[in-house]
Amino acid sequence: MFADRCPHRGAPLSAGTVCGASLQCAYHGWRFNSDGCATHVPSQPGSLIPSRARLDRPHAVVERYGLVWLAPDVPITEVPAFPEWDAAGFDCVRSTFVRTSAGAAQLVDNFLDAAHFPFVHQATFGTEAAAEVVERGVRRSGWEIENTFDTWYRNRDDPLVASGLHDEVQPQVLVKRGAVSLCVGLQLGFPVTGATIGILFCCTPERDGVTRVYKLLARNDLGGDAERIAAFVEDEDRILEEDLAILTRYRHNDVPVDLRAEVHTRADRLSVAWRQLLGEALAEEGLKS
Ligand code: FES
Ligand SMILES: [Fe+2]
Repeated sequence: MFADRCPHRGAPLSAGTVCGASLQCAYHGWRFNSDGCATHVPSQPGSLIPSRARLDRPHAVVERYGLVWLAPDVPITEVPAFPEWDAAGFDCVRSTFVRTSAGAAQLVDNFLDAAHFPFVHQATFGTEAAAEVVERGVRRSGWEIENTFDTWYRNRDDPLVASGLHDEVQPQVLVKRGAVSLCVGLQLGFPVTGATIGILFCCTPERDGVTRVYKLLARNDLGGDAERIAAFVEDEDRILEEDLAILTRYRHNDVPVDLRAEVHTRADRLSVAWRQLLGEALAEEGLKS
């Protein structure tokens, strides 16, 4: 695997073609072998090819949770943990893959937020009962942060709601895990039904103005039932659409790491902690403006 950039004039190598065992750049036709070394320069046949004419390799590439994770340089953190993905009794599935104009950091900031449920998600799980955010406090370990929220939701697929044995509005315990990355882990615990859902929400900035969103889902109360799994995915797609409806209306697509740029309350402590992490990481890399 190589960076999508030709060492000659930076053309995207993804526009090139494979010729036998070589990759040919679409711009000036330079060819590279499977080690990434240039082997042919059509404009200077027969002359010595500079040793720097080689493709950049990422530091590491691993496959985990059905996705390929690529670290261009030495990563600050590991691939995020997603314990529900491999746990017994969980059905694992991906929500519909989405490309959006919302920024990756905006998406993560939104996923860490627990104050928007009654407003953004009023057509799905949101309830007035969740308006006040009750959280247990941010815990930090290295480049990772975590908070637990004791909140409420509208349970729309509990059969005992229809029969009147359960209230529609039920408690849920959310454990949100962030890191200095564009992925967030979420575990949803439902004390009334005993179910658990795990979500790993992964955002990849593809280019300016385009973010790819992968939402990995694991749930332990579906018993492998294909219809219920499909309904679960559909519901998670709808929830993401609700978030995107607000995020894509922003006139900017980034998140300020300067905490003075926006106003925060105690309810925002997790996203504040995440912005602090990003600020620290950028300062360490000498990138903070
Ligand atoms: S940019 Fe690739 S050969 Fe010139
Ligand atoms: Fe949301």
